[in-house]
Amino acid sequence: MKLTILGGGGFRVPLVYRALLDDHAEGRVSRVTLYDTDQDRLAAVARVLAEQAEGVADAPAVVATGDLDEALRGADFVFSAIRVGGLDGRAADERVALDEGVLGQETVGAGGIAYGLRTVPVADRLARRIAETAPDAWVINFTNPAGLVTEAMSRHLGDRVIGICDSPVGLGRRIARTLGADPGRARIDYVGLNHLGWVRGLYVDGRDELPRLLADPVLLGSFEEGRLFGADWLRSLGAVPNEYLHYYYFNREAVRAYQEAERTRGAFLRDQQEGFYARMKDPATPALATWDRTRAEREATYMAENRDVAGAGEREESDLEPGGYEDVALALMRAVARDERTSLILDVRNGGTLPVLDADAVIEVPCLVDANGAHPVAVDPLPYHAVGLVTAVKAVERAVLEAAESGSRAAAVRAFALHPLVDSVTVARRLVDGYREAHPQLAYLHRP
Ligand code: G6P
Ligand code: MN
Repeated sequence: MKLTILGGGGFRVPLVYRALLDDHAEGRVSRVTLYDTDQDRLAAVARVLAEQAEGVADAPAVVATGDLDEALRGADFVFSAIRVGGLDGRAADERVALDEGVLGQETVGAGGIAYGLRTVPVADRLARRIAETAPDAWVINFTNPAGLVTEAMSRHLGDRVIGICDSPVGLGRRIARTLGADPGRARIDYVGLNHLGWVRGLYVDGRDELPRLLADPVLLGSFEEGRLFGADWLRSLGAVPNEYLHYYYFNREAVRAYQEAERTRGAFLRDQQEGFYARMKDPATPALATWDRTRAEREATYMAENRDVAGAGEREESDLEPGGYEDVALALMRAVARDERTSLILDVRNGGTLPVLDADAVIEVPCLVDANGAHPVAVDPLPYHAVGLVTAVKAVERAVLEAAESGSRAAAVRAFALHPLVDSVTVARRLVDGYREAHPQLAYLHRP
């Protein structure tokens, strides 16, 4: 089995490789090809992987290349994990929005739109190349904004591209644990878009345990989302939202806290990772130890932004354990490669799952996965408050896709202006100008 990682010089690649090293079953990945446009980063990550493989007899062979076609040829699976504009770009996405008084965040609101406008043209080109060069490969999209980017790629790859996120899995696990249930045995009723979904039920042996959680303020105060949103609001909603909905429900507080913060998350990670890649230029630097130290620091401050806003407290030890992106990706890859029926929450085309959206809209929903891919399970309809947010944000995503395809500034302005977290068309126009100035990749938005 050959796996190709686009964005192979990315900081999180060793997490994927570590998970691959733990897999000794038949049909495992035996070859990993790292592709990246930055040769220095590629070399740095390749060194970390080489140290990880030391002493592991059946470690997957690693090849690093800057040639896309070579990377894609013969791939059974492609992980797309690129970051157009790097963490510098992420920091600018945050800053430009905050300077306009609206949320500046990696994937939500104005920042997420800017990131999408930068990423969709590149993801689109990659998807075309994959369709030509490796038409039988399964593509797992890690790239944010994951729902939008998966939808862009699905126009060329159909259902062979599947988007992933770790947040619904993490949320389901935290709720199950809080209820004293085994996360592996609980069925979670979750649906929405990426970073915009709600847990509406959690079934153990066929019984919904969520009402018991919502009725108990002590239980609600004992896990992250419970503290983040507060018992009253969760009870009033009758569901537990994805942590990213904090940016909607507590937008004013989030914007203010970010504006007052010394550094945005993107700026923190940019500085931290610049340090890592710079140290790796010295061949005497111990690769794995240096990477691991940087990783631990990053995880310890995970979502620190939200904590600052809500006083949600330290992220608990159990939330840092395996279950991140790499585990979702590997579980998905295994289910497809070995035809092992597995249930996972994934970003896939809607089909008829949510009747308020068209069939091509990518949504985030529990899926049954087997050798034929990911099939969304039937879910209850969304309540109106969720329909409102989901359809509004899907309209924004469609405007981004239109802008990326046509180069139309008007479509880009529409994307920002229609977002529930951008409160004026005037602000939307200024955001387009500000982002065009900040990002050379947005020069294409020059048509009326
Ligand atoms: C979660 C989300 C990802 C997001 C990440 C940000 O894992 O699901 O989509 O990229 O958080 O974490 P970071 O450490 O980059 O701020
Ligand atoms: Mn995510």
